[in-house]
This record gives sequence, structure tokens and C-alpha cells, in this order.
Amino acid sequence: MEFDLQGYLKVRRTMVEDALNTLLPVESERPQKLNEAIRYSVLAPGKRLRPTLVIAAAEALGKAAEMVMPVACALECIHVFSLIHDDLPCMDNDDYRRGRLTNHKVYGEAMALLAGDALLALAFELVAANPCSVPLDCVVRTIHIIARASGTRGMVGGQVVDMESQGREVSEETLFYIHEHKTGALILGSVEAGAVMAGASQPELEALRVYGRQIGLAFQIADDILDVVGDEARIGKPVGSDQERDKATYPRLFGLEKSREMAHFHVQQALSALGPFGQGADPLRAIASYIVERDL
Ligand code: IPE
Ligand code: IPE
Ligand code: MG
Ligand code: MG
Ligand code: MG
Repeated sequence: MEFDLQGYLKVRRTMVEDALNTLLPVESERPQKLNEAIRYSVLAPGKRLRPTLVIAAAEALGKAAEMVMPVACALECIHVFSLIHDDLPCMDNDDYRRGRLTNHKVYGEAMALLAGDALLALAFELVAANPCSVPLDCVVRTIHIIARASGTRGMVGGQVVDMESQGREVSEETLFYIHEHKTGALILGSVEAGAVMAGASQPELEALRVYGRQIGLAFQIADDILDVVGDEARIGKPVGSDQERDKATYPRLFGLEKSREMAHFHVQQALSALGPFGQGADPLRAIASYIVERDL
């Protein structure tokens, strides 16, 4: 029987959103505006891909979603922090995100900056609290993975080169660096974190790393493609933003057709890496295919 990905995603998304709702600071608590701004962006309708990957990686290793829920929420917090800052006037200067006005449009730039800062800190608070009493060496390794994926050698590093490359010709190698870091790093980090929390063996972790790296790249290539051919109402953010800002993207360097082929190639690589895994990895397999077939 064909794996029901839509059903799977819906259940995980709801679980993650319920957990986020519980774990995020409440609006009635000081500082009210900050907490409101945080909840506004985090609880806006997102795909919850990164938390779902944390869960799917743990499930592929036979562990339950509940065990990795705080880590799943942490990855979503870091992702949303990156989105809020990415949309700021000093960066991509976008007005719409997840079908709503961007955080700075509603709360102002200072609050958007601080909401992002608070989300980055909250992510580590959630992981370190370790409410499911996961062995501490797994927790420390997970903190290391998430920190690395977020910073200079991860998302922030990619965002810097993305900014520096605006309006310039970039080499294939630089474009690859940007995509692997600004987006790929957090996606890979999600898979790795789920695996490490679930007690993955070294060979399992290595296979899942290949998977995470390949889908991370494919995901950003698909995002670039959707910026050209997507439907604004579906993707919930402006179409044509990359072209307007003269961004380094796959369609710009390779054209749409070749970009699609490249995204599919990376998904194939990801699927091959899952060879040794049984049916438990079917959600990971289905997510890989979805990443290039999605229209939002
Ligand atoms: C958007 O990520 C930013 C990128 C890294 C491409 P998503 O497409 O996962 O955004 P949400 O979480 O569904 O809003
Ligand atoms: C996403 O790059 C990178 C991060 C948010 C870290 P984009 O700038 O292409 O993302 P969107 O298209 O605004 O979601
Ligand atoms: Mg950007
Ligand atoms: Mg952007
Ligand atoms: Mg984009």
C-alpha cells in the first residue's frame, strides 16, 4: 500500500503545533508585546518540515515522537527566528510570510529583531530542559548539532554569503555553498538531532546525514523554483522576490528545467542513502519526494 504522506504530515503538524502552543511564552506574561510577536510568527501556518524531520528520523530508528518533541519544537523556533530576520528591511525586505504580514510590519523592526533573538535562546532552553530524560550525552550532542547548524558554519554563514552575492555573478560553487548553508544546514541538523536523540548507531547516523544534506539542498532549489513559478496564495509569500533583489538562485544560474533536474538528482541521492533502512523510514522517503513535488 502507498504511504499516506498527507495523513502523516497532518498528524505530526498538529502534534508540533500543540506542543509549541504549550511551550511558547504566553501573551498574558511580561513582556506581553514580545510574547505576542513570537506567537504571531511561530503559530502562523507553516509546513513544520523541520520538526517533522526530527520526528521522522527518530521514528525511523523505532522511537516515539513524544521523546523528541522538545527538540522538534526547538528546530521550528530557530527556523522561525531565521524567517523573521530574513524578512527584515536590512535583509530581504519582504512584507508577507506564511500568508500574513511579516513580523516587522506588525510589531516594528526592533521587536522583530528581539523576537528572533528570543526564539534562538528559547530553542536551547527547550533542548537543555530535557523533560523526557534522554541520556545526557545524546542531549549534549544534540545541542552541539543545533548550535553548529544555526551559526557561522550553518544558517547564518549561508545568509551572509546570500547577502554578499546579491546583484553579483556567482560561481556554481558559491551558489551551492549558499544553499547548503542558509537552508540545508537546519534541515540536515533536524535529521541529525532526531537521530542522535533516538540513539542512532554510527552507520545509521552517517546514512541519515547523507539523506539530510541531500534533501536540504533539494528543498532550497525547490524554494527558488517556487519563487519563479509558485502561486502567491499557496506559498504565502511574494513571488518574484528573488528576481527583484537580484538573488543568487538555481533558476538564475541554470534555468528552470535544469534546476528541476538538479533537485530531483539530490532527492535520488537522499533516497539511495536510506537503502539499509526498513519500512520505518517510509515517512523519510515520502518527505524526500514531496520536497521537490510540493507547490507550497
Ligand atoms: C522557508 O522555509 C525558508 C527557507 C529556508 C526556504 P519553509 O518553506 O519551510 O517555510 P514554512 O516553515 O513552511 O513557513
Ligand atoms: C531562506 O532563504 C533562508 C533563511 C530564511 C534562513 P530565502 O530568503 O529564499 O527564504 P524565503 O524565500 O524568504 O522564505
Ligand atoms: Mg533570504
Ligand atoms: Mg527571503
Ligand atoms: Mg526563497
